[in-house]
Amino acid sequence: MVFLSPALKQRLANPLKIGKVEIRSRVLQSPLSGVSDLVFRRLVRRYAPDSMMYTEMVNASRLYYVRKLPKIMEVDPNEQPISIQLFDCRPDFLAEAAQMAVAEGADTIDINMGCPVNKITKNGGGSSLLRQPQTAVEIVCAVVKAVDVPVTVKTRIGWSDQEINAVEFAQRMQDAGAQMLTLHGRTRSQGYHGPAKWEWIARVKSVLQIPVIANGDIFSVEAAVDCLEQTGADGVMCSRGTLGYPFLVGEIDHFLKTGQPRNSPTVIDRLRCAREHLVMLWEYKGDRGVRQARKHMTWYAKGFAGAAELREQLCRIGSVEQGCQLLDQAIADLEKLKSTSAVSNISDISSPAQLISQSLVTSC
Ligand SMILES: Cc1cc2nc3c(=O)[nH]c(=O)nc-3n(C[C@H](O)[C@H](O)[C@H](O)COP(=O)(O)O)c2cc1C
Repeated sequence: MVFLSPALKQRLANPLKIGKVEIRSRVLQSPLSGVSDLVFRRLVRRYAPDSMMYTEMVNASRLYYVRKLPKIMEVDPNEQPISIQLFDCRPDFLAEAAQMAVAEGADTIDINMGCPVNKITKNGGGSSLLRQPQTAVEIVCAVVKAVDVPVTVKTRIGWSDQEINAVEFAQRMQDAGAQMLTLHGRTRSQGYHGPAKWEWIARVKSVLQIPVIANGDIFSVEAAVDCLEQTGADGVMCSRGTLGYPFLVGEIDHFLKTGQPRNSPTVIDRLRCAREHLVMLWEYKGDRGVRQARKHMTWYAKGFAGAAELREQLCRIGSVEQGCQLLDQAIADLEKLKSTSAVSNISDISSPAQLISQSLVTSC
């Protein structure tokens, strides 16, 4: 049973201040490449209307050469608060991309300095900037100069266990003008393996004046509270815990504001949400949306008898109709089970966000 201490409640009672931007939530939805598009954010925002959301990371070089906003940079009109995340190693390209992002509606610009993927790091972007701190400083300075919204940085604790430089790096980002730092408590070498080292987040928090957001292994309300207690961070950012579970940010936000747990969605609620997600993706992206929906559907279908078989089928759907039919059938079967079995409350067989396997995805 999780408990919100009066001290923690008090510490987080005021809005999160990112420069001149005030956010009425201490729980953020992370940028997730291939996931956190406008459709996904709409779902998360339904349960967490006050929370900051991030677009998928956008390549500033590509923007520079193509001169056309990619779909992943699109934000809903009036979507707030929203940060557009950019990656690159060229300060001038990033400065220009940031101006385009502000024109699209970004409340803040986030620079990705944590992505471990080779394709990004070999071109000098993402976590490779941890090894090029001077370039990282120049990037922040250039972007701060180019836009009048706050500029933030999301990074990792270091390149490898032998090269942990989170404290010095974070200080340099702050000195360069970053207004918030999100720290994923893993090294680049770790990828997504092993536990996040929250102790490094605590060290960084103890020396920075700007807000520090803790990231890594926030899969539940309990984990969020533990992390906030252990690190002293100003907020938490949820990532893989939201895959197939867009309720998580709202659940944590609700708990931090009230000290009361919100009712978890049942298996049936989750499958209904999966169906809605599929239809929304299809409406927004057409057949490409259906192909993208396959992975989401398999993340939703967890924690009940027959889930493995359903996942097998969902990961091969060829049309929105086929996906809806499979989900409708699964919902009908569960409803029947609910009315006939001794399980009085279907939530008895539902699973919390932790059930979403931590080894699901390792793309970025
Ligand atoms: C599928 C996927 C896509 C990601 N895309 C991005 C991204 O675009 N930008 C970014 O800064 N981090 C990205 N990340 C990293 C997460 O935002 C987060 O830092 C990481 O997953 C650690 O948090 P967790 O342990 O709670 O998952 C991605 C992670 C995953 C699993």
